Parts: sequence; C-alpha cells; structure tokens
Amino acid sequence: GKGEHRHFMAKEIFEQPQVMGDTLNAMFNPAERTITLPDLGMDLKDISRVTLIGCGTASLAASVAKYWIEHVARVPVEVDVASEFRYRCPPLPEGGVALFISQSGETADTLAALRYAKSQGQRVIGVVNVPESTIAREADAVLPTLAGPEIGVAATKTFVSQLMVLACFSLALAEARGAVAPDRVAALSAALAEVPSRAVEVLNHDKRIRDIAADLAEARDVLYLGRGTSYPLALEGALKLKEISYIHAEGYAAGEMKHGPIALIDETVPVIVIAPSDGLFEKTASNVQEVVARGGRVVLFSDAAGIARMGDTALYAIEMPAVDPFVTPLLYALPIQLLAYHIAVHKGTDVDQPRNLAKSVTVE
Ligand code: M6R
Repeated sequence: GKGEHRHFMAKEIFEQPQVMGDTLNAMFNPAERTITLPDLGMDLKDISRVTLIGCGTASLAASVAKYWIEHVARVPVEVDVASEFRYRCPPLPEGGVALFISQSGETADTLAALRYAKSQGQRVIGVVNVPESTIAREADAVLPTLAGPEIGVAATKTFVSQLMVLACFSLALAEARGAVAPDRVAALSAALAEVPSRAVEVLNHDKRIRDIAADLAEARDVLYLGRGTSYPLALEGALKLKEISYIHAEGYAAGEMKHGPIALIDETVPVIVIAPSDGLFEKTASNVQEVVARGGRVVLFSDAAGIARMGDTALYAIEMPAVDPFVTPLLYALPIQLLAYHIAVHKGTDVDQPRNLAKSVTVE
C-alpha cells in the first residue's frame, strides 16, 4: 500500500534514503571503504570503452554516469537512447562493455539495443530492477538496482538506485585502472556512504517545496538549467514535470541559454536552477544573472555557499547539504522529484497513472 502517503510516487520518493543505502550496501564495505562489484566475467582494467544505453529516465542516469566515468576512470563513454542506438548500428570497439539500464528490464528498444551490442561482440551488462526480467536474463552479467517494486509511472527511487550502481561502477573502474589515487577513491566512497543520511535531510524540505509548487503550478512553460552532472538532472526535472503535470518543460545545459532558449524568458517562465557550488558554479551563476535580467523567476537549488553567492537573485532558494561534487546528482534528484510531484498534486492530475503513459514500454 501507500502507507501514510497519498500517492505511490510520494511513498517511493520518501523510500529513497533506504533504497540508496540498500543498493550501496550490496557493493560497499564500510570498514575498508572499498567497492566490490558482482562478478562481471571480465577484468575491469581491460575496459577501454563504455557504452551506456536506456530510455527516458534510465537514459538520463546514463548521462550522469558519463560524467562520472570519464572524470574518475578516464575511460571514454558513449551514451544514447536505445531507440536511436539500435537503428544507428554503431561500430563498437573490441574490448568494449555496454550497460543497458532499465527499471523493468522489458523495454523493447533497450532489449533490442542489448541484442545488437551482443551481436557486435560487446560484453553486455544489465542494470535492472527486476531480476527475472528479459534484459537480466540476456545480459552477460547484472548489476541490480535494489529499489524494490516501483508502482508510480514516474521513475523516482529506481533512478537514484541506478545512479548509485553507476557511481559504484565508476569508482570500481577508476580503481582497477589506477586512474585515481587510492585515498581519493576512499574519499569518494565515504561521500557515497553518507548519501542516504544526507538524503533524509533533503526530504525535510518537502513542505517548503510544496509551497513553492503552489506558486509555480499556473506556469505554461518551465525551464531547468544545470551544468556538468546537473545538466542531465535538469533534463530529468523537465521530464518528470511534463510527465505528471502536463506542463511544458525543457532542460538545458546552462551554457546553451544564449544560443537560443533565453529568447523564451519573461516573467511568466519559472527557471529551475540546479547549481551545487562545484567547479562550474560561477559559470552557472553568470547564466542565471542573464535570466534574471530578462525577468525570469528563478528557483535555486544549491548549498549554503551557493545560496550566499547567488541566493538574492532567486525568487526561492532551497538549501542542499554541502557534499563532494561527485555525489550531488544523488541528492539533487530528490527536490526536483518533489517539485514535480507537488505541482502535479496542486493541478489535480493523476500522479501515479499519468495519461498516455505505461510503466513498462514493451512495444517500440
Ligand atoms: O523500465 P525502463 O527503466 O526501461 O523504462 C524506461 C522509461 O520508459 C522510463 O524511465 C520513463 O521515462 C519513466 N516513466 C520516466 O519517469
């Protein structure tokens, strides 16, 4: 059941500290601060190239992981949505590994993409939530997301579990390749281990986000901006909002604003800014100045330092915990889900069963 919650989506959002912990604990040894993946039937240090494929939210988890893997493991990564990948018939290199990310493990395009990669001699790994699914069966190995059943059509807890698995994969790859110093791997593992308790703090913003949502619910269009790993989160925020509230929303890399989308900005367009104070913060801050100068109403998600620097330009600011930039996607995913959820509830749409959508897309 839904427990104390009105919708499965709310229940699943609030389960996230738990499922992130469960997913991590299956791979993480807290005493030694080391990550051990299930046997993938291959030596991680031989991986010269990674392909990450999914649909919808799963493809956005893949996009976050591209930044992680390239940054910490220094292995080139290609990301694509399954429906494009499968018909593009891309040449795939010897020694490549391809990860197929899917909550259901039954998505038709993702399965077809897996079969293509297998036919091209790739080692294929399923990142799935349903252990007896077709993708789990056909993959050479499985990295399970231990989120439990997800009933809401909108992916929430399975997204953060996918991120957790992919973060661990990135660190294990980095370690195997000697791409980062061992103490850095230990520091990043420790930052991951802290995520579940920090996530509890983030969920305490629920009521505040509900109030902000009430103010945004009349918007016709909403923009989401971010850089680095916050860019795919901007895309995910926009997807979540469209899917359950039917408000038109778009995510952009903040640096792309002046290449077109800034023309959309006026007082009627809320702009959701995902900007932890990482190495890209100042760049995002100057994009936000340009938005504010054109009357944009900014909702800022940042930490104390970021809010001190940029908060007065925002209509609303939500203070996130200060954490290592590596783990920010796992935490910033939560308030953007809550924002979409509360806007949809305010509008009175069917949050758990949005129109035109199916939980599992088994036809292409
Ligand atoms: O079961 P899958 O993870 O393969 O599903 C992929 C997408 O259909 C799914 O993530 C969809 O985008 C969600 N409804 C988004 O919330």
